[in-house]
Amino acid sequence: MAELSGSVVVTAAGSGIGRAAAELFAERGYGVVAVDIDAGRLAPLSAVTGIVTLVGDVAEERTNAEMVGLARRRFGRLDAAVLNAGIGGAPPLEDDRAIAALDAIHAVNVRGVALGIRAVTPALRAAGGGAITADVHG
Ligand SMILES: NC(=O)c1ccc[n+]([C@@H]2O[C@H](COP(=O)([O-])OP(=O)(O)OC[C@H]3O[C@@H](n4cnc5c(N)ncnc54)[C@H](O)[C@@H]3O)[C@@H](O)[C@H]2O)c1
Repeated sequence: MAELSGSVVVTAAGSGIGRAAAELFAERGYGVVAVDIDAGRLAPLSAVTGIVTLVGDVAEERTNAEMVGLARRRFGRLDAAVLNAGIGGAPPLEDDRAIAALDAIHAVNVRGVALGIRAVTPALRAAGGGAITADVHG
C-alpha cells in the first residue's frame, strides 16, 4: 500500500457533504473511515480505494468508539474528524410529534457530535495533533 497522507473519519458519509468529503480525502491519499446510519447509502463507498465503511448511529457511543478503532486498526493513526452528521425537520411546537423530533435532533446534532469529539480526541493527541470539524446545530 502506498504511504498514506493521513487518516480521517467522516460521519454522514453516505450522502451530500459527507460523501463528497470522504471521496475527496480518499482521492488525496487519506485513509477514510466513512460512517453512516444508512447501509444502502454507504455501500458505494466501500468500492472506493482508501475508504472503509461503518454502518452506525452517531448518537450511540459504540459507533463513535468503533469508528476510531477502525481507523487505528486499518490506518494506524487518526489525523482528522469530519463530524458532519445532522438532522432537522422538527414540526411546529404545537404538533404532538414536536418534542420527540427535538429529542431526536438533539441526540444526533449535539450528543452525537459530543460523543464524536470525545472518541476522536485521544487518537488525535496520539498522532501529535489533528483537526475536528463539526456542525452543531438544530
Ligand atoms: N446541504 C446544505 O446546504 C447544508 C447547509 C448547512 C448545514 N448542513 C448540515 O450539514 C450536514 C450534512 O448535510 P447534507 O446536506 O450533506 O446531508 P444529507 O441529507 O445529504 O446526508 C445526511 C446523511 O446523514 C446520515 N445520517 C442521518 N442520521 C445519522 C446518524 N444518526 N448517524 C449517522 N449518519 C446519519 C443520513 O443517512 C445521510 O446519508 C447536516 O448536518 C446538515 O444539516 C447542510
